[in-house]
Amino acid sequence: MSRSAHPAGPRYADVLPEGHYPAPPADLNALEPRVWSRTVSRNADGVVTVGGLDVNRLAEEFGTPAYFLDEDDFRARCRAWREAFGPDADVFYAGKAFLSRAVVRWLTEEGLNLDVCSGGELATALDAGMPAERIALHGNNKSVEEITRAVEEGVGRIVVDSFQELVRVAHIAQRAGKRQRVQIRVTVGVEAHTHEFIATAHEDQKFGLPLAGGQAAEAVRRALKLDGLELVGIHSHIGSQIFDTSGFEVAARRVVGLLREVRDEHGVELPEIDLGGGLGIAYTPDDDPREPHEIATALRAIVERECAAAGLAVPRLSVEPGRAIVGPTAFTLYEVGTVKELPGLRTYVSVDGGMSDNIRTALYDADYSVALVSRTSTAGPMLSRVVGKHCESGDIVVRDAFLPADVAPGDLLAVPATGAYCRSMASNYNHALRPPVVVVKDGAARVIVRRETEEDLFRLDVG
Ligand code: LLP
Repeated sequence: MSRSAHPAGPRYADVLPEGHYPAPPADLNALEPRVWSRTVSRNADGVVTVGGLDVNRLAEEFGTPAYFLDEDDFRARCRAWREAFGPDADVFYAGKAFLSRAVVRWLTEEGLNLDVCSGGELATALDAGMPAERIALHGNNKSVEEITRAVEEGVGRIVVDSFQELVRVAHIAQRAGKRQRVQIRVTVGVEAHTHEFIATAHEDQKFGLPLAGGQAAEAVRRALKLDGLELVGIHSHIGSQIFDTSGFEVAARRVVGLLREVRDEHGVELPEIDLGGGLGIAYTPDDDPREPHEIATALRAIVERECAAAGLAVPRLSVEPGRAIVGPTAFTLYEVGTVKELPGLRTYVSVDGGMSDNIRTALYDADYSVALVSRTSTAGPMLSRVVGKHCESGDIVVRDAFLPADVAPGDLLAVPATGAYCRSMASNYNHALRPPVVVVKDGAARVIVRRETEEDLFRLDVG
């Protein structure tokens, strides 16, 4: 797109030579549906609304920064996953993406199961009424306390991650007079096309036992001998924010390969396989994620084909989406505090949050989009960097974004697709007070996780 198509844009042209900067969107006021939750739109005054509520009023009532989560969208996504996989499969929502008691209740009502990976997540799930048999406990180094609570409460499965843990779980279960259902987590050697820190199927990493070289088969051998365990299946999770189904297909093929080996060696057909989570979402309009039904169709086909070839009954399949359910359902609302133009460089737009409410840009170089939501503007595009208020130059919320050139202190900006791994990875860095999570539904808003207060900080500071 030529520069003249976007007249009032002198600043972005200064940053990169003509033809080397991304074209600004044709309409800065437009909201690309792919990145916003389903009930987001602009009203007749040009103010963005969610669930029928306008962001200026939401900011007045709940303050900024704050996460606004669209309950109808969350439930619709749960149902889409349930329906895509059908009654012969289980969908475990990955609580690490975002968990609260309200979320647990929605999951329970929508027929989803829950993957937890710490004592805190387990306690939240149980407290909010998720039946224990619908909970799976994960983690590469679960504590004795975590395993004990899970066993005593009767969780549906523990996903075992090491040889030591097999023995530990067996011992705890025996002591409790129980036989614990377990899966063994394996690494299948697939390189997922995602950030190194969130890819988990290659062998040189802390999770799982490699199929290659026989450690996974050895874990099965040992598990079958331990009285306190009922080995029900094999688990694989290949990584996160993945856009194509090919990695999952390879994983499915290799996991079924292990089931065949187990059948041949022990005469046992393990009844379950879990292929983990990891389906990507759209953070920017350039992202093109797969829908749940696409992944369900691809996985079912490959599992059925491989099982038929191996002469195995098709095992019960489960998956563990986190981001793909909650990620697109929320945005973070910020207020602009300062706008600093550095001539010949770029414009820094500072907001009232930052890396304490969204660490993903700093940690993974993640891309986000951003929009001016408290009003529309007819100003031309300005290449901006949206930054937080923390004492670090890496405190970036959105690295490169076009905002209207008249963006000013007091304007509200919203960053979409922040439902996953933002509140759940939020910190108190610089003694920031973590923002609330506000749920919107049918023209009403309610807080499900309240804003932290200074009292909350002092409560832990007992020195
Ligand atoms: N199952 C297991 C065993 C996992 O380890 C994970 C994520 C999931 C399911 C859910 O993956 P999802 O569908 O949400 O991609 N903090 C990183 C993501 C770390 C994911 C860790 N495990 C991020 O912000 O991108």
